[in-house]
Order: sequence, then C-alpha cells, then structure tokens
Amino acid sequence: MIWVVGAKGMLGQELCGILGKRGMSYVATDRETDFTFLSVLEAFVQGKAIEWIVNCAAYTAVDKAEDDLEVCRSLNATGPKNLGQVATRIGARVLHISTDYVFDGRATVPYTESDPVHPLTVYGQTKAEGEALLMEACPGSVVLRTAWLYGAHGPNFVATMLRLMKEGDSLGVVADQYGAPTWAADLASVMAEFLRRPPPNGGIFHASGEGVTTWHGFAVAIYEEGRRLGLLDSAKAVEIRPLDTSAYPTKAHRPAWSVLSKAKLKQQMGLEFPPWKESLKSYLRTVTETVGPQI
Ligand SMILES: NC(=O)c1ccc[n+]([C@@H]2O[C@H](COP(=O)([O-])OP(=O)(O)OC[C@H]3O[C@@H](n4cnc5c(N)ncnc54)[C@H](OP(=O)(O)O)[C@@H]3O)[C@@H](O)[C@H]2O)c1
Repeated sequence: MIWVVGAKGMLGQELCGILGKRGMSYVATDRETDFTFLSVLEAFVQGKAIEWIVNCAAYTAVDKAEDDLEVCRSLNATGPKNLGQVATRIGARVLHISTDYVFDGRATVPYTESDPVHPLTVYGQTKAEGEALLMEACPGSVVLRTAWLYGAHGPNFVATMLRLMKEGDSLGVVADQYGAPTWAADLASVMAEFLRRPPPNGGIFHASGEGVTTWHGFAVAIYEEGRRLGLLDSAKAVEIRPLDTSAYPTKAHRPAWSVLSKAKLKQQMGLEFPPWKESLKSYLRTVTETVGPQI
C-alpha cells in the first residue's frame, strides 16, 4: 500500500486522483498526521502494510520562509528525515518531492542530478537538507526535483495571471528568470509510474515540464490560450510587459536559471514530460470543462 503525506495540497490531491483512477491502493493524510513528529508517524504505520511513503507535504511559502527558518526546517528537513526513518523501520521506501531551489540558478545549461547543490534561500537550503537527510535515513528512496508547479488544487501562477488579465489591461512579468512550468497532473503521472516500477536503487531524478521559457513567456502563453478558450475576453487587449527581476523585488532570491535536465528520467525510467505549452493547454482545457470560464 501507498501512504500519501500532504494529501490535501496541490500535488497531493492530484496524486490521489491519479492513484484512484489507476486502482492503486493508498491511504492519505495531511496536517492531522503531523510528519514533523516521529512518534506520530510510528503510530500511524502500526498494522498497515505500507510499501511506499509519498511525501507531498512541505513548507512552500518561499518568501515567508526567510523569516521562519525553524518551522521551515522542521517541515522541509526534519519531516523527510522522519519519513525515511519510519520507512526503513517497516521495510518501505520514500518518494519525496524537492525543488530547483536547491541550485543557485547561476548555470546556463540545464542542471543535472549530479550538479552540486548551492541554495540561496531558506526554502532551498531546507529542501536540500531534507533530500540529504532522507537519503541517509532510507537510501533506496526516490527524490523528484520539480519546478514552477501549477495545478487545479492550489493557488498558482496561471490562476493569478488569468485574474490579473481579467481585472486590468497591463501587467509586468519577470522576463529574466528561465525555467519550465510543470503541470501537477503530469508530475503526478510520473510519480505513479515511479511507484508502479521503481528504480531498484532509488536516487534523485529531475522531473519538470519539457522546454524552457520565462515567467513572461509563460504569461503570454496563458493570455493567448486563455483568449482562445474564452477564459479571457478576446475583445479586450492586455499588454504584458517584460520586467527585470530588479523591478520586482522579493524577500527570497529567485534562481535566474531553473532549467532541469530530464535526460536521466528518460534514460533510466523511459519517462518524459510533455512540452510545457502543451500541458498548459491541457490544464486550461480541463479547468474550462470542469469549472467553466469563471476560473
Ligand atoms: N509549488 C511550487 O511551485 C513548487 C515548485 C517546486 C517544488 N515544489 C515542491 O512540490 C511539493 C508539493 O508542493 P505543493 O505546492 O503541492 O504544496 P502545498 O500545496 O503547500 O501542499 C502541502 C500540504 O502539506 C500540508 N502540511 C503542512 N504541514 C504539514 C505537516 N506538519 N504534516 C503534514 N502535512 C502538512 C499542507 O497543509 P496546509 O495547507 O494546512 O499547510 C498542505 O496540504 C513540495 O515538496 C514543494 O516543495 C513546489
């Protein structure tokens, strides 16, 4: 059986949906089973035949984390370590989600799994600690590093852009940070494949949308597709201005280069993400069908 931790979050909900559709048996918990306490986890696994613990829980408020190191560390580092310890004790493994923020973003070619981590933020630092502590506690575990995640079950860039484009007629979006948007449904499908046929020795894999864009490029694609699907008024033009990062200061330093190489994912697992723009179209189509144009 699979245990999904952080099941009420954006990715957790997406994963539970896919596991359910595929008939893969799972149990789901969220805050009520606080993974920062080892004793809580030990009590939970009693009498259950758990083979995989999937960690979708984390401290994800990147800017807030800069002033909240201890809480952030307890979720992003102690939590995964606890999960690893419990997994080892019961003969299970952990599938854990990490982030491009473990890198400093100073590269100019896609990051590979063997590149050294060098986080610049509290969030990135604690996520890097979590990866290492988990692998030490449960060496056969799998870490999937993703980036620029969006989906139906949480606040995200796509929903924010659509709202701003409905409200105004001009907005500025950062155009000097590069990455690849990742639809939570695509990541959840990849996670389900890892659970179905896991790599024998585990390891770190990069898992983000295919291709490269900027936040500005992402916003333009949302605008174009939003108009095409009737989510935005096609009679109203919205100017999307490219901004430098310096014009949009944030507490936490965002990596300028968040592009992750998926070569290992393809070679070792035979898995690929769709091009990010295709996934955006699928996401917006799905949301239009289920929620309607008021998204
Ligand atoms: N979002 C992104 O752009 C992005 C990018 C790269 C990587 N990631 C990684 O992707 C993963 C999933 O992110 P997400 O956006 O789906 O996160 P999310 O929506 O914030 O979901 C996290 C879930 O964990 C729960 N949780 C918080 N503290 C907990 C605790 N002590 N014990 C158990 N559950 C707890 C949260 O509850 P509350 O809502 O009540 O706090 C929430 O339901 C994370 O590992 C994140 O670091 C995200």
